[in-house]
Amino acid sequence: MNLKRYFPIYKKYPKLAYLDSSATALKPQVVVEAMTDYLSHYSANIHRGLYQMSEQASSAYDETRKLIAEFLGTKDEGEIVFTRGTTEGINLIARTWGETYIKPGDEIVTTQMEHHVNIVPWQVLANKTGAKLRFAKINDHYLISNDQWEQLINKKTKLVAITHESNVLGTINPIAEITAKIKAINPTCVVVVDGAQIVAHQPVNVVELGCDFYVFSGHKMYASTGVGVLWGKRELLEAMPTFMQGGAMIREVGWQETVYAPLPDKFEAGTMPIAEVISLGAAIRFMKSIGWKTIQEQEGKISALVQKRLGEIDGLKIFGPSDLANRGGVFSFAMEGVHAHDIAQILDETGVCVRAGHHCAMPLHGLLKVDSSTRVSVGMYSDEKDIEGLIVGLQQVKKIFYHG
Ligand SMILES: Cc1ncc(COP(=O)(O)O)c(C=O)c1O
Repeated sequence: MNLKRYFPIYKKYPKLAYLDSSATALKPQVVVEAMTDYLSHYSANIHRGLYQMSEQASSAYDETRKLIAEFLGTKDEGEIVFTRGTTEGINLIARTWGETYIKPGDEIVTTQMEHHVNIVPWQVLANKTGAKLRFAKINDHYLISNDQWEQLINKKTKLVAITHESNVLGTINPIAEITAKIKAINPTCVVVVDGAQIVAHQPVNVVELGCDFYVFSGHKMYASTGVGVLWGKRELLEAMPTFMQGGAMIREVGWQETVYAPLPDKFEAGTMPIAEVISLGAAIRFMKSIGWKTIQEQEGKISALVQKRLGEIDGLKIFGPSDLANRGGVFSFAMEGVHAHDIAQILDETGVCVRAGHHCAMPLHGLLKVDSSTRVSVGMYSDEKDIEGLIVGLQQVKKIFYHG
């Protein structure tokens, strides 16, 4: 199935091989149109105006929340909070839940495969509160061994923050299993899941995962930048202080005291990114129209091809699980004697877009004993031709560096 036809960028650049969907996904025409339609034809503020245009904007905004609730498998729309993205979602949890409930001597656990945003806010929180920050280790297969949770989790562990899919290794963590293990040892431990890398690629059901918070960004799932989602269990969100204060998040304001609005408005202060939220609704509708079966079949086929073709190149090492059952379509690799930036630059000259650097995971790259890697990542539009372009480009790299 040719899914490229839904993405206007390919009309302008038909030969483009975009293999950086982990950084951000391309935008389908329907998402562009939904945003343009709001900006052109009913760009009123929401939940304020009593005129029809404002009501139209409010209902498009609220409709996205409904779609997200359904997308995540929850019935409670009050548990869906719009943010600017994964980064804001994790910071919100650290600053509100974390600063309220973490005490000196408590323990916060994250893992060695996290993006900086799932490390740095916890460092700050640990420093502020006197808590200890600990890390679940990755093994030689680039997985988090299941047996270490018994040693890592104890009654002092207040929070575990873990990525659903690594943005470097591609590893998919079995969150339901991990959460069950953690909760069996300490039922009050709160589990925060970073879903940034997975929501565009496989269905997520927060109830089945058993976690307490789940965060992701719209732009990695075909929507605009500037919007994301924080899902949290109602009782936790209700027991948290506010994050930002201002308009729209209040019920009543006096000179000295304020009564806050109920969920989710309590966490949505000020004018929200309305066009971006509407784009997220359009992205979800678009993904539903394509269907998980098609998305997963296409991405599974292309991921297998990437793994096979990269594996055939001498001197190239993939950092990530070899078993496709444990991974998504994110492949970071190193080529002996060639810097990742040189690889990316040569590929760019042949119309292939990949990421090079530490991918916001410096501690992980330290463990991998490289300062940077080249990352290929797939989206629903990735096809065999893109991978052919990648391999031709990498042969060019070899020619220049190995025989030049
Ligand atoms: C695993 C992971 N978490 C968090 C983020 C941060 O997302 P954002 O920059 O959209 O807030 C990224 C982005 O690359 C990511 O890959």
